[in-house]
Amino acid sequence: MRLLCISLLLLLSACSSDESDNTDIAIGKDVFEANCVVCHGQEARGLVSNWKVKGADGKYPAPPLNGTAHAWHHSPAQLLKTINEGGIKMGGQMPAFEKALTGDEKQAALDYIFSLWPSEIKTKYDKRYK
Ligand code: HEC
Repeated sequence: MRLLCISLLLLLSACSSDESDNTDIAIGKDVFEANCVVCHGQEARGLVSNWKVKGADGKYPAPPLNGTAHAWHHSPAQLLKTINEGGIKMGGQMPAFEKALTGDEKQAALDYIFSLWPSEIKTKYDKRYK
């Protein structure tokens, strides 16, 4: 199955760049649902009503990543670093995904996250970081 997916991916990436962007987003959604949804919630909306309040365990819950919290204040490189290293080392709760996901999977997950942001935030972000 994995091999089939990879060859499909190669085929698709030969198409126009717009189509391959959509492919990345679809793959990113799968990666997100398999690895991130448990904490960050459906469509990265978060699981709690106020992510700025510590939970009963004394730790901050996972923030939404859909443009309503502060993920968009961080560069793509910083977001990728969080995905790679997680937050446990810094007293947080997020596990490191450095070895659990391939570079393409991480990038696809990021592309999916970007696709959830309101367009005015995305436009500002692209101006700042692209
Ligand atoms: C066990 C719960 C958990 C899982 C699973 C998890 N996260 Fe997180 N994530 C968190 C928490 C909690 C934070 C806040 C930092 C901390 O406490 O570690 C966070 C922070 C982040 C941030 C930084 C947000 C910001 O505002 O800068 C990004 C980006 C992120 N996660 C992406 C992901 C992605 C992508 C996945 C799946 C590959 C994922 N997370 C899986 C709990 C989780």
